[in-house]
Amino acid sequence: MRQKVVIGISPGKPTFFCSAPCFLQLKFLLLPVIKNPYDSPMCGIVAYIGKRPAVPLLVEGLRRLEYRGYDSAGLSTLGNGRLHTRKRVGRVDALATLIREQPIDGSIGISHTRWATHGAPSDANSHPHADASGKITVVHNGVIENYQALKDALVKEGHSFASDTDTEVLAHLIGKHYAEGKLKDERGLLDAARAALRQVVGTYGIAALSSDCPGVIVGARRGSPLVVGIGQGEHFLSSDVNAIVAHTRDVVYLNDYDLVAVRADDFRVERLDEGEARVEISKVAHDAGAAEKGDFPHYMLKEIFEQPQTIQNAMRGRFNRNESSAALGGLNLTSTELRNVDRIIMTACGTSWHAALVGEYLIEEIARVPCEVEYASEFRYRNPPIDKNTLLFAITQSGETADTLAALREAKRKGHKALGICNVVGSTIARESDGGVYLHAGPEVGVASTKAFTAQVTVLALIALLLGRLRHLSAMQGSRFIQELESIPDKITRILKQHDAIREIAAKYKDARDFLFLGRQCNYPVALEGALKLKEISYIHAEGYPAAEMKHGPIALVDEKTPSVFICPQDAIYEKTMSNLEEVRARKGRVIAIATEGDTAISRKADDVIHVPKTIDALYPLLTNIPLQLLAYHIAVQLGRDVDKPRNLAKSVTVE
Ligand code: M6R
Repeated sequence: MRQKVVIGISPGKPTFFCSAPCFLQLKFLLLPVIKNPYDSPMCGIVAYIGKRPAVPLLVEGLRRLEYRGYDSAGLSTLGNGRLHTRKRVGRVDALATLIREQPIDGSIGISHTRWATHGAPSDANSHPHADASGKITVVHNGVIENYQALKDALVKEGHSFASDTDTEVLAHLIGKHYAEGKLKDERGLLDAARAALRQVVGTYGIAALSSDCPGVIVGARRGSPLVVGIGQGEHFLSSDVNAIVAHTRDVVYLNDYDLVAVRADDFRVERLDEGEARVEISKVAHDAGAAEKGDFPHYMLKEIFEQPQTIQNAMRGRFNRNESSAALGGLNLTSTELRNVDRIIMTACGTSWHAALVGEYLIEEIARVPCEVEYASEFRYRNPPIDKNTLLFAITQSGETADTLAALREAKRKGHKALGICNVVGSTIARESDGGVYLHAGPEVGVASTKAFTAQVTVLALIALLLGRLRHLSAMQGSRFIQELESIPDKITRILKQHDAIREIAAKYKDARDFLFLGRQCNYPVALEGALKLKEISYIHAEGYPAAEMKHGPIALVDEKTPSVFICPQDAIYEKTMSNLEEVRARKGRVIAIATEGDTAISRKADDVIHVPKTIDALYPLLTNIPLQLLAYHIAVQLGRDVDKPRNLAKSVTVE
């Protein structure tokens, strides 16, 4: 049976948290040999075909993707009928230098920035990788789990390899099928890619180039995002819209098991199993400027300063003032269904997990619905009882985090409603959820998550309001909550004005080797988040703890060299937190306090105080978190760290 195909442009409907289409089920039915389907490394791919010189476009695209992985970078172009490859260990800048020294041309090319899995970062292990003939090169995100068996078989057939990577094995496999096939054209290349990928166990997003086929780039995805960018007489292929949004906002998010032939004038999507391909064109909501630093020295600082706006964006159009409630149509749940929810599970990783912990507090406090928060990496392998009235939320900035995606799929597989709270439009989690809420925070490029956290907490506050108003929360209480939420952006602006003072505080503490972050109730997750922010960008050891729990162990760390950051706004539990602060002072610990404006008493007890405006207890995390972001940022800058690209990390963690 010949495959059905879709060529070029079809009017698309938005992919906003639609129900899972049937291809998801197909995957499980038709391709059972592939295991571990959600595990793919966090590298970046960008490819171009058109009339313009490819190299500047590819290098520019790689720079925008560098936050996905920054161990090495490389590219191949086709010029004068020949493949030209340049690759180098290190950042994209190192590749750009190499290309200046050894220029290449061509208006078709593929490129890659790497986060190493198989094989250490080195020139040889950098992508692209060539097949045995040297006529085909491939870039790849993902893990070929059976690469050793495939490699052994190829070696027996006489293949030799120049790298330690699984990707080179894939390149040789495609080359072998191409050499053995009858067709030496685009069809032959597509069939060779299909045959090779059918032998692969693992995950991939790939782009391949052949000197026999100068008019096409072949791409395919399974478990690693890949998007086609549609231009005028030119097309792009990328793992992330941010790499191409400067050139086009019309994109097609490929589905798992899609195989695509991208040409200058059109593109053609096929299915690996030769079934029917679905193509929907989406419009990227933001422009390239949204993913640029502007006048800020770092993305992280820009994103911290964007928060008054991003919180407003997360709330915009989402209040139902007549009912003193929230309007969240994307949840795809009726009032009756929402009333029937008797338990919520929130699953997430990292900073998103901290936002979920704040959400637990908000939803239990305001809506009185029991909540549990699970690390996605634990949830996916546990077998927790979930009943029909349990609602699952997967919370994620990127929408691509492997563990969170697997947790969502596990809940759906069991037939439960699984919703997403997600920032990246069109991401895998956004598309596979039964419904959800977008954050509308715009691209978050800094590896340390900042504005996504406050947007997530804002959305969770809206969910708490909605559920509360369907239960015991009065209209007056609902209105007061809305009023308070709406005042948050201005209050954050006031906190941001203390930027210079926080820089000075950072200078006093930057040489500490350990930090404690302590808070209670909904400020306990803020303490966890403050500690994570500091350690991931400054490499200083930091621990977040419930302030009262500290005396059960961590207090042993306290001495004059270990500062404690106390999150102690004037909330219902203020006096208790102050007692914990005294316990630290009694042991000569230095204290930085995050306190409410007008709290003069605290200045006598803490070494340094950063004030936040007053709000209701449940919303303090939206304020108290901001000084901690700035503190971590300034300490990291003063220590000379690479704030936007901290060592060993990448923005989207698509390995488990
Ligand atoms: O994209 P996600 O929100 O799913 O990412 C989750 C974590 O990987 C992420 O929050 C990570 O912990 C950040 N580096 C924290 O700043």
